[in-house]
Amino acid sequence: MKQRLLFLGPPGAGKGTQAELLAAHHQLLHLSTGELLRAEVKAGSALGQEAEAVMARGELVSDALVLAIVRSRLEGHQGGWLLDGFPRNLAQAEALDGLLAELDQRIERVLLLELEDGVLIQRLLSRGRADDNEAVIRNRLVVYQEQTAPLIEHYRNLGLLRSVEASGTVAEIGGRIVASLVD
Ligand code: AP5
Repeated sequence: MKQRLLFLGPPGAGKGTQAELLAAHHQLLHLSTGELLRAEVKAGSALGQEAEAVMARGELVSDALVLAIVRSRLEGHQGGWLLDGFPRNLAQAEALDGLLAELDQRIERVLLLELEDGVLIQRLLSRGRADDNEAVIRNRLVVYQEQTAPLIEHYRNLGLLRSVEASGTVAEIGGRIVASLVD
């Protein structure tokens, strides 16, 4: 099975849910930049204070800040990993390529979780995280389309992308994900 993975997809597609399960089952390092940023906000660190207002609006935190977080976790880690919510734009994808070249590692597969907007919005409204009110969710979807969706073509052109239908139960989606990691 592929061991160095990216999960792409709009907010609410289930990246975090599926990444956590897959990482636990296959002993992969699960790096969610959203989770790491929320931990910094909770801790009240300088980094968290910088990120909090940006996250509350559903905008992207600065590339440099996010890259520093990812670098600190990947450096010195030899096993597999699963990046969830990063990269989020082409600049981050290029920075990740540079970091991986330094570490002599490479992305083995990119999974795109696909789900229609109506279902995404319902899932997020029922969760109710600080950034899960309707106006902010809609902005997160706009940011996704404008800044993150171009990565789909980028990774497709590199032959790394597989699409996964992200509707149904957590177990059904998990089965599709595992199937898309074996060839
Ligand atoms: P981030 O934490 O990455 O949030 P997101 O991309 O908006 O994704 P979500 O966590 O909302 O959704 P998900 O796809 O992970 O779905 P989940 O499994 O949680 O980012 C938050 C913010 O941090 C960004 O807006 C930005 O400000 C900042 N940030 C993060 N990374 C950044 C970066 N690289 N650069 C710059 N800024 C960055 O599921 C959603 C809900 O649905 C849950 O309640 C779950 O229980 C439920 N659910 C999951 N699967 C199913 C299912 N099959 N059926 C029913 N319900 C389900």
